[in-house]
Amino acid sequence: MANLVGDVSSAARILPDLHGETLFIRKGKGAWLWDDKGRRYIDTALGFGAVLLGHANDTVNEAVTQALHDSASPSWAHVREHAAATALAKHTGSLSKVMFTNSGSEAVHLACRAARAYTGRGKIAKMAAGFDGWFDDVSFGNVTSREANFADGARPSTERTTLLRFNDFADVERLFAEDPDIAAVILEPMLANAGCIMPLPGYLKHVQDVAHRHGALVICDEVLMGFRLFVGLAGLREGLDPDLASVGKAIGNGVPVSAVVGKPEILQGFEEGRVARGGTFSGNPLACAAVSSTLALLDESDYDRLVQRGEALRVAVEAIFRAQGIAVVTSGYGNVFGIWHAAVAPTTYAEASTIANPAFSKALHLALREAGVLMMPSPYGRIYISFEHGDEVIEAMKEAFGQAAAKLRLEFGGH
Ligand SMILES: Cc1ncc(COP(=O)(O)O)c(C=O)c1O
Repeated sequence: MANLVGDVSSAARILPDLHGETLFIRKGKGAWLWDDKGRRYIDTALGFGAVLLGHANDTVNEAVTQALHDSASPSWAHVREHAAATALAKHTGSLSKVMFTNSGSEAVHLACRAARAYTGRGKIAKMAAGFDGWFDDVSFGNVTSREANFADGARPSTERTTLLRFNDFADVERLFAEDPDIAAVILEPMLANAGCIMPLPGYLKHVQDVAHRHGALVICDEVLMGFRLFVGLAGLREGLDPDLASVGKAIGNGVPVSAVVGKPEILQGFEEGRVARGGTFSGNPLACAAVSSTLALLDESDYDRLVQRGEALRVAVEAIFRAQGIAVVTSGYGNVFGIWHAAVAPTTYAEASTIANPAFSKALHLALREAGVLMMPSPYGRIYISFEHGDEVIEAMKEAFGQAAAKLRLEFGGH
């Protein structure tokens, strides 16, 4: 235990102890995870959104195992890479060129490099409190940071990054009037990592149009939402016309893989060798096998049913807490939503940070864990459901929420 910094390799994985015990997961299957003591939990973190077909999907596992047998690192061009790119590009419209990477952060990083190289400009604008990965440039202004709340009044900026206030239409015009050096704006379909704050009608399109008018590119960061609502990019369904997008998570059902997709002219610099890229593991056979097999399954999956099932769960969760006199509202979509200890869902990060209640979220996490459901412990966390969260699992989740709400009544009730 003494060797692992902070006991885990990603800060997102830190959980409080329950009855003095630390949680260690041994295995997962479908909607379920088992810990090292053999206890079973319904999972709602689902690889932080990566696991859409359920844990340890047999078809994906078989494809990846075969690739592993055939060599995980053959160095050279291999037989699985084009097929994976074709399967992905079938769903990304005019963003028809693909570069595979390994994590969402890496894909965003490469997309930003593409935008800087294409425009010759230096800065990336991102949404304050949006999460576009943990790399230096874009972790500036992440949720709970001082910058995310514009604490000093002025727009927080570095030489390479500047921030926009999410859902503030006028702020977009102001940014471009102030700064001619914006290479790209990164847009997320919603501020998922700030508790699923939804964009106001027309907001994303407005940001895109202003950016394009000023010669900047638009990067849709679809690492979390891509392929989650339907087999494709959420931004395209919203009528956006981005120049680049980052995808990850759900495209490999939990196997580490991500990609940049873009318009051919924007990525030409890479094709001609003028812009650097690399990666020992980029586009490796395991990742490509995961993408091809996952997308083939997603092509045949009933997303409408999944989202409806999640919407019904959202309504039920709100009602369960209401019955205990606890104000709870959800925001987001049926298969990915945040839970707020408040009467009204936030539409800005200023509102979100005011109503965020870490004590409530931690207490809810612990009470649910005791009732057999694993949920992120932060007020900015999310509930995910997968295609394996069938009616029985959803019913069991409602039951667990009922037990948790009853437990939280004394401390958080009275609304
Ligand atoms: C929208 C978004 N972009 C980028 C990332 C970074 O992806 P990764 O954790 O795979 O580096 C995440 C991860 O949660 C994300 O949600």
